Amino acid sequence: MGYDITASSTRQPSNLLSTLAGEYYTSESVFADEQSQIFENMWFCAARSADMAKPGQFRKVQVGRESVLVVRGRDDILRAFLNVCRHRGAQLCTEPEGQVRRNLRCPYHAWTYALDGKLVAAPNIATLTDENGVGIARYQYGLVPVALSEWLGYAWVCLADEPPSFFDDVVGDVTRRLGDPSAIDRYGIDGLQVGRRVVYDVAANWKLIVENFMECYHCATIHPELVEVLPEFSSGLAAQYFVGHGAEFGSDIAGFTVNGAAGFDNLPGIAAEQDRRYYAITVRPTVFINLVPDHIIFHRMYPMAADRTVVECDWLYAPDVVASGRDVSHSVELFHRVNLQDFEACERTQPAMASRAYRKGGVLVPAEHHIAEFHSWVVSRLGVQRGERL
Ligand code: FES
Ligand SMILES: [Fe+2]
Repeated sequence: MGYDITASSTRQPSNLLSTLAGEYYTSESVFADEQSQIFENMWFCAARSADMAKPGQFRKVQVGRESVLVVRGRDDILRAFLNVCRHRGAQLCTEPEGQVRRNLRCPYHAWTYALDGKLVAAPNIATLTDENGVGIARYQYGLVPVALSEWLGYAWVCLADEPPSFFDDVVGDVTRRLGDPSAIDRYGIDGLQVGRRVVYDVAANWKLIVENFMECYHCATIHPELVEVLPEFSSGLAAQYFVGHGAEFGSDIAGFTVNGAAGFDNLPGIAAEQDRRYYAITVRPTVFINLVPDHIIFHRMYPMAADRTVVECDWLYAPDVVASGRDVSHSVELFHRVNLQDFEACERTQPAMASRAYRKGGVLVPAEHHIAEFHSWVVSRLGVQRGERL
């Protein structure tokens, strides 16, 4: 007498899903494909528009393999250009940000571009002719423009020849998470001001940072302060698990601060159901938006290498909070700790991606199953060939 412990009729299907293979997080060739198929093909959040408040102010950002200049024109319009001189290719700007007076002047041979990208001067320009002996048209040698859209107070750029719909991709990601296209508008994010900015240089692949942000299975283990403020996070289910759901503050918590003390007045437009709630949104490929009643925490990633990602994080407040010089440190400190805890976890994970133990990847438990959708999205962006090769 006996019984068959392998009888398929009694076996439950596994509720573990596979992750991507380790190579996805280490391979230079995967990263190169991500640069061309993802960062250079989608809308990429480049900079806070108010960082370039005055004509001539610029920021230089890395978008995929390209260096991009975002610069405010004399007509107050924000534009983006490839940071490449049309003469012999010198980088126009090497500083990460700055202010020019009237023009962008190449430091090599002094070709000079207006803030709208037109070539306006070059040594002996009047003597330069094209192959027909005709004087060169200056517009032909202007800076190469990059598509730019402003939303939520940020400049988003797209290097694709034909950019995808901003509304479907960027706004769509937010709407799919919040369930209501007007929910984000109520926070008035474009009118807020940066109260604090912290830049983190993280020794981890950008996808590890996205995956970490999407799940809360780790919250009880590594985020004691956050779980104190949002007790439902101790269950391991991320707010992102349910469309339209925001995690509720604990009953004894007055504000989204490191010690649960009161923060600032609620942002004026938010709805009653947004009070005392935290919403986390992932906007693919590189943005996280965190909404709480009195401020916004806005992350932008700049993937620099397969194993290195720079994350710029802004804490945005109502203008009067910033203007009055009120102390934002208690509210900044909460998510700054969360960031440090998360990025340390990602850095702890990155070296193991190259281990033979992770050659076929790991597993996702049910509370992380929504990450599988992110994985298939990445694989589909990279194309079937890549999926077959790994
Ligand atoms: S490379 Fe810029 S002026 Fe020559
Ligand atoms: Fe986390």
